[in-house]
Amino acid sequence: MRDSFGSRFGALVALAGSAVGLGNLWRFPYLVGENGGAAFIIVYIILCFLICLPIFICEFVVGRRAQENAYSAFRDLSGGSWWKYVGLMTVIVPLIVTSYYSVIGGWSVQYLFKALNFAFTSGESQSQISTMFSEYVSSPWLPLFGHTVFLAATVAVVGAGIKGGIEKFSKVMMPLLFVIVLGIAIYSITLPGASRGLDYLFNPDFSKITAKSCAAALGQAFFSLSIGFGTVMTYASYVSKKENVLFQSTATAASDLAFALIAGVAIMPAVFAFGLDPQSGPGLVFETLPYVFSQMPAGGVVAILFFVALLVAAVTSSISMVEVGVAYLVEEKKIARPWACVIVFAACWFVGTLCSLSFGPLSEFKIFGRTIFDFFDNLSSNVLMTLGSLLTVLFVGWRLKKTDIYDEFTNGSTLSTNARIFGVLWFLIRYICPLAIICIFISGLI
Ligand code: PHE
Repeated sequence: MRDSFGSRFGALVALAGSAVGLGNLWRFPYLVGENGGAAFIIVYIILCFLICLPIFICEFVVGRRAQENAYSAFRDLSGGSWWKYVGLMTVIVPLIVTSYYSVIGGWSVQYLFKALNFAFTSGESQSQISTMFSEYVSSPWLPLFGHTVFLAATVAVVGAGIKGGIEKFSKVMMPLLFVIVLGIAIYSITLPGASRGLDYLFNPDFSKITAKSCAAALGQAFFSLSIGFGTVMTYASYVSKKENVLFQSTATAASDLAFALIAGVAIMPAVFAFGLDPQSGPGLVFETLPYVFSQMPAGGVVAILFFVALLVAAVTSSISMVEVGVAYLVEEKKIARPWACVIVFAACWFVGTLCSLSFGPLSEFKIFGRTIFDFFDNLSSNVLMTLGSLLTVLFVGWRLKKTDIYDEFTNGSTLSTNARIFGVLWFLIRYICPLAIICIFISGLI
């Protein structure tokens, strides 16, 4: 029998675990601050619920209807047409993302060790901490070690199965993650000078809302909700037929949003309280924040908690990506789960190693003018993910039968609220979502 999630809560925390990741911690707060604070949050919420939630629901419906991995779902629901290649794409893209995601996961492992050794409490200068980071990422061996440990841990969780691995892990880790980040947020707003960080995050500036900032919001929402990658589809295939698609999807989107906002409140007030400039991405979590920790009272403990949170957020996301590939190998290629895990590990380890080395020995090697890491990051999160989302929504809206989608969305017409809003949802799926994705994608390029 096919493995599945054992409970509603289990499915929810697994889905939320996939959604909540590095995107929430290191990109969302900065994007908000730079693009008009509360004004950007409003745009983000509208796009999240009007465009991304329907796409999320599409993936969910496809996965749960098919009860198969993403590739087979596209193939079987479309009656074996070329759509299966779209399915194949949604299996391959998460593996590419896992490869470079795991490099960053590896940095988090290393920085957790540093925090446990109280490396950020000795009053080092900001430039010393930045040098520590650049020397670390450009050295060949240590980051590879982190990458290997992180990927091995990810694959070990996936290897233990859906109920016994992914669900069990998420049930413990997600509440822990939430409590830690909430705790840091509360501490952070009590620091003197914290209000400047809150202003940065929440002061609305509608003049900053442009086509570019909308494109940035949509890109971030795709990445953050893990859509366009086959992950939602794969997880949904393990969700019981009794569950309510609308509830599970909305709850995931809402918790992802809530987490991103709390992460902003945990990070920005502390950054501003110590007179630093906010940054995005690695610079924020591996350079700015360690310096903040070195300055703040009880910073040693906060650093440990923060890197635990970063690691947990990254692992619960990467397990969802690895599961996409593993499910494909198990079901399509009839490979036993442990061996499927070994194969995925080997492939991601190899590509990830190239990504990791692109910060050091391979930094001169460029693909279309980008380092290997940047190339994969850009290709998958800017191009393939948007394409995946567009194709998924077209697949559901224009290829599958409306009656089948209705049936899956309303659990065989038994859910009255779902039945009532189906008309609006269908309109969004068929017309608004594809048009919005295309418009925003193009305007982001200009
Ligand atoms: N949503 C994750 C994050 O915010 C990343 C992710 C993308 C995970 C796609 C799974 C699939 O970091």
